[in-house]
Amino acid sequence: MSRYDLFSSDIVIVGAGLAGERAAVEAASQGLNVILLSLVPPRRSHSSAAQGGMQASLGNSAMGKGDSPDIHFADTVKGSDWGCDQDVARLFAETAPIAVRQMAHWGIPWNRVVPGTRMYDGKEIHEDPEKEGLITARNFGGTAKWRTCYTADGSGHTLLYTMDSVVIKLGITVHDRTEALSLIHDGERCYGVVARCLRTGALRVYTAKSTVIATGGYGRLYGASTNAVINEGSGMFVALETGRVPLGNMEAVQFHPTGIVPSWILITEGARGDGGYLLDKNGHRFMPDYEPNKKELASRDVVSRRIIQHIRKGYGVDSPYGPHVWLDIRHLGAQHINTNLREIANISRNFAGIDPVRDLIPVRPTQHYSMGGIRTNIDGMAYGMEGLFALGEAACWDMHGFNRLGGNSLAETIVAGMIIGKKISGYTREAPLNVSSSLIEEHVRMQEDRIQSLIHCRNGKENVYELRREMEQTLSENVGIFRTEEALQKAVAKLHELHQRSHYVGLRSGGQRANPELASALRITGMIKLAYCIAAGALARKESRGSHFREDYPKRDDENWLTRTLAYWPVGADQPELKYEPVKITELPPGDRGYGEASMDAVGAKR
Ligand code: FUM
Repeated sequence: MSRYDLFSSDIVIVGAGLAGERAAVEAASQGLNVILLSLVPPRRSHSSAAQGGMQASLGNSAMGKGDSPDIHFADTVKGSDWGCDQDVARLFAETAPIAVRQMAHWGIPWNRVVPGTRMYDGKEIHEDPEKEGLITARNFGGTAKWRTCYTADGSGHTLLYTMDSVVIKLGITVHDRTEALSLIHDGERCYGVVARCLRTGALRVYTAKSTVIATGGYGRLYGASTNAVINEGSGMFVALETGRVPLGNMEAVQFHPTGIVPSWILITEGARGDGGYLLDKNGHRFMPDYEPNKKELASRDVVSRRIIQHIRKGYGVDSPYGPHVWLDIRHLGAQHINTNLREIANISRNFAGIDPVRDLIPVRPTQHYSMGGIRTNIDGMAYGMEGLFALGEAACWDMHGFNRLGGNSLAETIVAGMIIGKKISGYTREAPLNVSSSLIEEHVRMQEDRIQSLIHCRNGKENVYELRREMEQTLSENVGIFRTEEALQKAVAKLHELHQRSHYVGLRSGGQRANPELASALRITGMIKLAYCIAAGALARKESRGSHFREDYPKRDDENWLTRTLAYWPVGADQPELKYEPVKITELPPGDRGYGEASMDAVGAKR
């Protein structure tokens, strides 16, 4: 009897969130045979937690009038602090409106323009009766126009459920509760994955002409994160572990200004977009003091830093979970809150025991998004490995550079799924599948050995949960919103130690079937490698750009650092190797972002 089940398809996609599903839809529509693998049933993927919406320059709302892909492009580049690939940002901005309309065609109940006059931040807004019923948009951070199309504050939920319905309609095969453990490759080309069934523990082999990684971000490396518990960066580390595929800009980590205290669940930027304020312990609205132009809606990296700056000055509200500030949406009224912001109203009620119709919401910046990921070219193919693609948050495509704008993530999943899905399909139609059984055997045997070593504690008895706790603490304390040489050095040294110790993990529990400790143990070394890449990249980058803020180098340095970090992990190495490539500036030369002036006035110094 075979030791594993073998599945073969044209394309195997690891991850069934919005990016993976949209690429699958593209390929299946072209007659290709696709298998989607997912840790969870697809509708539980983290995409469904996205709230505020997706950016597309439709220009239907009064405050979006005159919008265009050109303006969306410019906002995206400024948001990225000139760290993005401008060819990718251009392609994205041009395609986003098509993506939004196509999703409407597939069934998304986008919020629509309602003619009439209403008040917003002390001003009257008149919606054009000619635009009645067209897809509308809300205000979001770092944008010149209101451009974020939304379905109340459950935009990810509606998009994912709709996309999954298309997946079902097309009869695409989904293997859920299945985890990819490694890529099958010969150092040059990828032939699929070795995976493990999380229900039975059985190993499976998926061979394919094209292998696609769409596993989302690595937020859970930080412990406190708005991300779902499945966001552990698994697709990134299986690519890194080939020794050939680099990760781009891993030090670019986004902190969302408003995670709710103390569960850290996302409270959408849409709350501020719809007119909510940030208040300090004295009830003072402080953002206009720092950002008179964009106020609460500067880009996220800026707002998060301003909140921490204000807390450091002593204006935070004390709580058993550390100091926080308040988000005030009471003035938006019960009707608006219970319709357009109903998800966050329920989250506030259920997870903080407060009602935002009459209470202030306690919030603090919380890890939210990974700009870094598997470095790909504009067609989505990974650097260094033929036949391997990546898209969505797992990838560094790279349209976000050092800071992603709110609403550009949902948009990226769908736009990249459309564009890269086509590229993958074209590649797959021409590609042969000649994988030798000995190569498959070699890769399966490596995974079998790992599992047996862990179960029988062959190498030692390090506790996987303890390693994980120390990794989370190291990142949270030393590689956060404000960074210094000293703290980053400490983080690198600690992660070096944790990486060594991770080779000696042994299980407390028995069994190789549905055993969460085993699943965690299989991931821990990879997760620590990702954490190490983040800290090492941050230590090496001696400037501040977007979300990467060095208190000891508070200025952006275009002369020396207009570069993208590429982190490699050579096979058998005990640390990452960093290389750099230039950032492509094709249209918009580096300049002022229009917010976050003067690199935060050396804010870190005022602790
Ligand atoms: O605040 C939000 O609704 C998050 C949106 C995003 O990350 O794009």
